[in-house]
Amino acid sequence: MKLLVCGGAGFIGSNFVRQRITDHGDAVTVLDKLTYAGREENLADLRDADGFAFVHAGIEDAGAVAEAIAGADAVVNFAAETHVDRSIAEPDAFITTHAFGTFVLLEAAREHGVRYVQVSTDEVYGSIEEGSFTESSPLQPSSPYSATKAGADLLVASYHHTYGLESLICRGSNNYGPYQYPEKLIPLIVLNALHGDPLPVYGDGQQVRNWIYVEDFARGIGHVLAHGAPGETYNVGGPDEAVNLDVVRRIIDLVGASEDLISYVTDRPGHDRRYSLGSEKVRALGWEAQVRFDEGLERTVAWYRDNGAWWEPIRSGEYRAYYERQYGRALGDG
Ligand SMILES: NC(=O)c1ccc[n+]([C@@H]2O[C@H](COP(=O)([O-])OP(=O)(O)OC[C@H]3O[C@@H](n4cnc5c(N)ncnc54)[C@H](O)[C@@H]3O)[C@@H](O)[C@H]2O)c1
Repeated sequence: MKLLVCGGAGFIGSNFVRQRITDHGDAVTVLDKLTYAGREENLADLRDADGFAFVHAGIEDAGAVAEAIAGADAVVNFAAETHVDRSIAEPDAFITTHAFGTFVLLEAAREHGVRYVQVSTDEVYGSIEEGSFTESSPLQPSSPYSATKAGADLLVASYHHTYGLESLICRGSNNYGPYQYPEKLIPLIVLNALHGDPLPVYGDGQQVRNWIYVEDFARGIGHVLAHGAPGETYNVGGPDEAVNLDVVRRIIDLVGASEDLISYVTDRPGHDRRYSLGSEKVRALGWEAQVRFDEGLERTVAWYRDNGAWWEPIRSGEYRAYYERQYGRALGDG
């Protein structure tokens, strides 16, 4: 199969591309704008693989998309601005990429008559106190990030209803694993714990998230691409829920750091309390998560510990200024 993978230089996209090339022998063209979160280094081991190509462009660039899609059997779209905190401070790029960028890609997929998978998030449903969201739960996004992702989902669905495009939507829960940019909770806490820096915890730390190991989500997306019904949405949630503060404590144990590093900071405005996804529909297609949270977290901590060459340039670059703006204190030099 020949795939066009947009946003394939990011965290989940690069794990997906690795899986498709290594396990399925697919030819993959990655189209990525290389924002602060996208890095060619994430694909370094795949550069010489048969059929691999990289295009440096944004999904909103219709000319670049038209060239990149030629000959593809399907498009999988990971391209997004993904950090809720940044969407609160500077929402502009979220609107350009999620609304206009998705539109450009949909038009290209329609013109070429190819299958299209939109990678989306549980955050489009908003927060839920008890129970789990199904695919037919109402969309109640609460941040500019989740609102623009929800808008993109509606546009994708409309291209199936209106034009008959073979479009599908895959909504994942919180991912964790190798190659995740350290602004997100798990890599942030792992790297700070390894360096003896304070571990920032929002509010009371009692927010609940449903965690999925990135390789499980990547397999889920591949499964929906191969077996999903056009026009349908599939939730792809992880096997375990955890309270944020417990996640921080587990990481402290795995790293061998001190609990004294925990530092409570002002909560994010409009912070959702709990996310939870019911994934029966994708399970009925034959997909199952394989990695439980304890095992995945151990693997993740080991990966960050062993891959300093991957995160050192990030931790010493623009990320330092972002961190200081966000948490009002500098990262240590360790
Ligand atoms: N990380 C999670 O927990 C999670 C959970 C569920 C769903 N998702 C969704 O999965 C997708 C990937 O998330 P991630 O965590 O890998 O994000 P990421 O921030 O690590 O990667 C995003 C990638 O998209 C690229 N990109 C951004 N704007 C672009 C544009 N206009 N054109 C082309 N490329 C662009 C970036 O350069 C980067 O490579 C997103 O759509 C996100 O909403 C993420």
